[in-house]
Amino acid sequence: MIANQQQTPLYAAVKQFADAQPISFHVPGHKNGKLFAEQGLAEFQSLLSLDITELNGLDDLHAPEGVIADAQELASEWFHSLHTFFLINGSTVGNLTMILACCQPGDMVLVQRNCHKSILHGMELAGVKPIFLPPSYDKLKQRYIAPSTSSIKQALTNYTEAKAIILTYPDYFGDVFPLKEVIDLAHRSDTFVLIDEAHGCHFSLPFVSVPSAGELGADVVVQSAHKMTPAMTMSAYLHVYTSAVPLERVHYYLQLLQSSSPSYPLMVSLDLARYYLANYTEVQYKQTLRYIKAVQECFVAPDYWEVEVNDDPLKMTLRIHDHLSASQVQALFEEQGIYPELITDRHVLFIFGLEPVYPLEQLQKRLATIRDSLKHIRHAKIDVDPLFFEEETVSLALSYQQMNQQHTRWCRWEEAAGKIAAEAIIPYPPGIPLIAKGERIKGATVAKIKQLFQLSIGFQPSNPHKGIYVYEAAEGE
Ligand SMILES: Cc1ncc(COP(=O)(O)O)c(C=O)c1O
Repeated sequence: MIANQQQTPLYAAVKQFADAQPISFHVPGHKNGKLFAEQGLAEFQSLLSLDITELNGLDDLHAPEGVIADAQELASEWFHSLHTFFLINGSTVGNLTMILACCQPGDMVLVQRNCHKSILHGMELAGVKPIFLPPSYDKLKQRYIAPSTSSIKQALTNYTEAKAIILTYPDYFGDVFPLKEVIDLAHRSDTFVLIDEAHGCHFSLPFVSVPSAGELGADVVVQSAHKMTPAMTMSAYLHVYTSAVPLERVHYYLQLLQSSSPSYPLMVSLDLARYYLANYTEVQYKQTLRYIKAVQECFVAPDYWEVEVNDDPLKMTLRIHDHLSASQVQALFEEQGIYPELITDRHVLFIFGLEPVYPLEQLQKRLATIRDSLKHIRHAKIDVDPLFFEEETVSLALSYQQMNQQHTRWCRWEEAAGKIAAEAIIPYPPGIPLIAKGERIKGATVAKIKQLFQLSIGFQPSNPHKGIYVYEAAEGE
């Protein structure tokens, strides 16, 4: 363990400030937690004492030179990056920033279609030209996973002019793919590798079996500290790993996109999350793995689901059998006060913490009640044809700049084939855009969407039951 990894410079400075009983004639209006709605005061008070502003000695996130710079440096040392930035608007702002910083308008970018919406938004803001790589379908797991390594490599070979390739590693379920080969190939043609590692902050632990993208040589890696490590919601890191990344542009876009009053509790929790990781031991980890194994055994119910282990040992998926639906199973869990992370049409995803926090006996008791209720449930099987059967990559019919200059109009599905979409159509599950904004709509896709309506599959952000917004001037092209 590196000696100074036992320090928490930002937490220490903020705590020392709060303990000195300061008299506040500055923002925020809660005056160090002395002024607050009575109902919530008891819960909020201790945290509010840390919720301060950029006073002398407490540094400034947007121009760090003191304790925030020190805390970021310790994080950079722990994550082995060239530079680590603290983020107070989640991986969302990290993803926007990495794209804006590394790409110029008009640059070609390779991106997997099943990416988080912040990646789509980042590409739109940056005005790049995306080439979408189709996700592959894992028949055994019955869900979409990353594009196949061969299709990623093919795209990198076909499009050596691409400025960046943007990939999600791991996926929501904690599964990964051979990223190193992809990074090495991309770097041969000077293509940036930008990784959304929102779910992989704990991969920095040397004894976790999955390597982090930074370790494998990616250029920029964004991690939500709050997802898989103990940190407050919205706290995240952006790590720069190679000198090819323009640091000044990263810095510029972060101060453009993030609040000018960054939350100290969030920043402190990033300092403490790094400290937690750096001082977490292999013994603790092994104990956690034993606990997870025991929990997995409690969940075994072959009449109702398969318990799947994922590449990330902290994730567990129940693959629900056809005679049940995942939402029915979720409802039974919630009745017993058990809250999973995510459900799809046939999966329920559970995320563990880095330490065992809930006693096994408590879980076993509740699972016994759930098993009793399961006996009475039946469900009609839903069959959905594959959504993304095409092997080829897809580019947009209009650039984001052209889209900005076009008027839109609403169009019935019956007339939509051949027009250019002015909005994304995202069935949920699986949460992957079936139509991307700016993509030319295919007749086969319209037929698929109608099939999904009949199966009552939901759409995000809203249900486009009758039609879609399209670009007016682009019609007939
Ligand atoms: C793959 C992925 N990337 C990015 C994000 C956004 O992360 P955050 O909530 O930290 O902004 C999420 C959120 O669920 C995600 O699943």
